Amino acid sequence: MGCCCLKNQKTLPTHKLDENTKNTSMIPLKSSTNPTSPIALDLQNTIKESKKRELTDVYNIKKVIGQGSFGFVRKGQHKNHPDLIVAIKSIDKSKIKNELRLLKREVTILQSIDHPNIIKLYETFDDAKYFHIVMEFCSGGELFEKIIELGGKINEKKTAVYMKKILRAVNHLHEVGVCHRDLKPENFVFENDSPDAELKIIDFGLSNKFGSKFKHIVKMESFVGTPYYIAPEVIKGDYGPKCDIWSVGVIMYVMLTGHVPFPGDTQVKIFKNIMKAKLKLENPIWDTISDAAKDLLKRLLVANPHQRLSAAEALNHHWFNDPSKQKLALDPNIILALRSYKPKSQMQRAALGIIVKYLSVDQIKDLRQAFYDIDVNQKGELNIHEIDEALNKCGINLPKTQLSELFRNLDYNGAGVINYSEFLSATLSSKIQLDEHMLWMAFKVFDKEDQGFITVDNIHEIMNKMGKHVTKDQVREILNEVDLQHDGVICFDEFKKMLSGAKI
Ligand SMILES: Nc1ncnc2c1ncn2[C@@H]1O[C@H](COP(=O)(O)OP(=O)(O)O)[C@@H](O)[C@H]1O
Ligand SMILES: [Mg+2]
Repeated sequence: MGCCCLKNQKTLPTHKLDENTKNTSMIPLKSSTNPTSPIALDLQNTIKESKKRELTDVYNIKKVIGQGSFGFVRKGQHKNHPDLIVAIKSIDKSKIKNELRLLKREVTILQSIDHPNIIKLYETFDDAKYFHIVMEFCSGGELFEKIIELGGKINEKKTAVYMKKILRAVNHLHEVGVCHRDLKPENFVFENDSPDAELKIIDFGLSNKFGSKFKHIVKMESFVGTPYYIAPEVIKGDYGPKCDIWSVGVIMYVMLTGHVPFPGDTQVKIFKNIMKAKLKLENPIWDTISDAAKDLLKRLLVANPHQRLSAAEALNHHWFNDPSKQKLALDPNIILALRSYKPKSQMQRAALGIIVKYLSVDQIKDLRQAFYDIDVNQKGELNIHEIDEALNKCGINLPKTQLSELFRNLDYNGAGVINYSEFLSATLSSKIQLDEHMLWMAFKVFDKEDQGFITVDNIHEIMNKMGKHVTKDQVREILNEVDLQHDGVICFDEFKKMLSGAKI
C-alpha cells in the first residue's frame, strides 16, 4: 500500500485528498446543455423566482468554510434570527456555463430529499455572478478531517457507527431514485462536535435522478466522480446506482486503514487498479480487523455491480449486529404523541412541515432517534407495519381500521409512507413549545417576496414542494379557513392564531 497513508496527506498529493487533489479530482461531464433548452430555461425561472431578495439582505456573510470546484462555501447568519447559522454554497455561474443542468439538479434533488443523514436545503438566491444555495450548517467538519484528526484511521467500532449512518442515507437515496455519484469523505459532514453527532451527505452537484425506483437498471453514461472512489463500471461508462455502493466500500476501507484500496500516482494507474479490483486484505494492517468487517468489504468492493450488495443488504450484514442494541426501548411519550395524533388543518400541516426544518439538533434529537428505531427496514421512511410494531412495543394494539386511519392522517402528502418531516411534525407536541421566533421563520418562508403576508400562490408553491399536490382553488379554501380578516391573504397574526390552534 506504500505511500497512500492519509495521515501524511499533505505530503502525498498523488494519492490523497488534500485541497489540491480535491479541486482537480473531479472529472468534467462529457455532455453539455444548450442554454436555451427547456431545462436551462426552467432553471432561469427558478432563479427568477428567488431574485427579489438579495442574499445579503437576509444573511450576514461570515468566513469561508469550504472550497468547491465551482465556487466556495461560507458560513452565514440570519439577520433577523441570529441563532440561525447556515452554510451558503456560492456557485460561480461563469464556471459552470453550459452545465446549468447540474445546478438545477442539485437544487431540485436537495429540495425533494427528507432524511436525517442528508443535508437540508433552506433557500436559494441568484445574483449577477453567483447562484447561492443556503442550507443547514454542520459545524463538526468533514469525515475526511475526522479521519485525519483520529490519527489517519478510525477504529472498527466507530467505523461501524459511521458506516451505518452512511448506508442508511444511501439506502434512502436509492429508495427515492437518486444516485449521488460523488460519495467520498469530503462530502460527508458532522452536524456538530459531539461524539454522537449525525453524519450528513452534502454536495449533490453530480447526483442524478432515476426513473421508477430502480426497477430496471438505468444506464448513466456521464463519466463523473473522484478517481479513488470511482466504481469500475463508471470508468467503463455504463452504470447504475450500485456505483454509490462501490464508493461506500472505498470509504469503509479508507476509514479502517487510512489507505485507499486502489492507489496509483497517476489517474491512469488508479483506474487500472480499480478495473483490476484486486482487494488485498492480507497486509498486517488487517490483523486487528474482524473477519466480519473484511467480509462486508469484500461484498461491497465487487467489480460486478450485480454481485455487489445493495445498501439495504449491506445494512443487514452481520458486522452491524450489536446485541446490546437489539431490544432498544422506544420513548413512550413519543409513541403516545404518535398514537394520539389528530389531523391538523392543511395549512397547519404545511407550516409545521416548514418549522421542523429549522429546529435545532437539541430540539429534535429524541424524535430523530425514535424515527431511526421505528424505521426497522432502514429506508428512511416509515410504513404502516413499522408504525404498528412501534405501537405494539408500547402496549398499544390498534384495530386495523383505526391503524389505517391514523396512518392516513400522518401521511400528509399521501405517498403511502411517513417521511421524516411528517414524523417530526406529528410527534413534535411531545417535545416542543413553539415560540414567536420559530413562527416568524416559518412565516417568512411562505412570504418569500417579503410582502408581509402570505398569498394563495405562496401556499400553493410550498405545498407542492412538500409533495402535496393541490389546485389553486383548493388552496383558496385552505386560505379562507385561516383568513380571519377576509382580505384574501394571511398576515402574521392570522398565521400565529392558526398555529396556536394546532396545540403544539
Ligand atoms: N452544509 C455544510 N455545512 C458545513 N460545511 C459544508 C457544508 N456544505 C459544504 N461544506 C464544506 O464545503 C466543502 C465544499 O462543498 P461541496 O458542496 O462539497 O462543494 P463541491 O461541489 O464544490 O465539492 C465541503 O467539502 C465541506 O467542507
Ligand atoms: Mg464536494
